[in-house]
Amino acid sequence: MSRVLREIIEHTGRERPNDETFVTRQYIANPASIRCTVAIDDEGVAVGFQSLVRAEGGNRYDVPAGWGIIGTHISPRAHRQGVGSALFRSSQEAAEQAGIEKIDAYIGADNASGHRYYEAMGFQTYRVPEGIVQKVYTVG
Ligand SMILES: CC(C)(COP(=O)(O)OP(=O)(O)OC[C@H]1O[C@@H](n2cnc3c(N)ncnc32)[C@H](O)[C@@H]1OP(=O)(O)O)[C@@H](O)C(=O)NCCC(=O)NCCS
Repeated sequence: MSRVLREIIEHTGRERPNDETFVTRQYIANPASIRCTVAIDDEGVAVGFQSLVRAEGGNRYDVPAGWGIIGTHISPRAHRQGVGSALFRSSQEAAEQAGIEKIDAYIGADNASGHRYYEAMGFQTYRVPEGIVQKVYTVG
């Protein structure tokens, strides 16, 4: 998963935390996690992952408490092959099982592929803080 994040940084030039400690804390051992789904290739190597966490009061994205917060990270090696769509089917199922009604996606304003992807998944823009677009998906 760290390697996936590093490949995305190399591809986009957008820096972000990527070390194993961060990945473990944020995606694997996060007590607010609802589900983190990892996509692997035929050799068992991770090509991408999607995390869904429950928004807690005062979260840094200003998402209402109780909503889901989604994050999608797919290696450029695997773009436009349906990986993101498959991951979202898993997250959608997890959201339904957890009783989550809305999911927030927090996307850099300049991230055109991120916008197109979340729109294709059914998300709609609801808020535009400086440099960011927040989209929401209604579960069910
Ligand atoms: C955005 C991202 C998640 C898309 O993942 P993906 O596995 O390539 O997505 P899919 O192949 O399942 O594409 C699903 C649909 O999304 C849309 N889409 C995805 N990438 C797109 C792009 N670059 N341009 C236009 N539409 C795009 C299309 O409608 C696509 O359907 P189609 O291929 O049948 O036309 C991936 O590019 C990524 O992880 N990028 C780096 C990190 C990032 O930007 N994360 C999201 C925002 S924080």
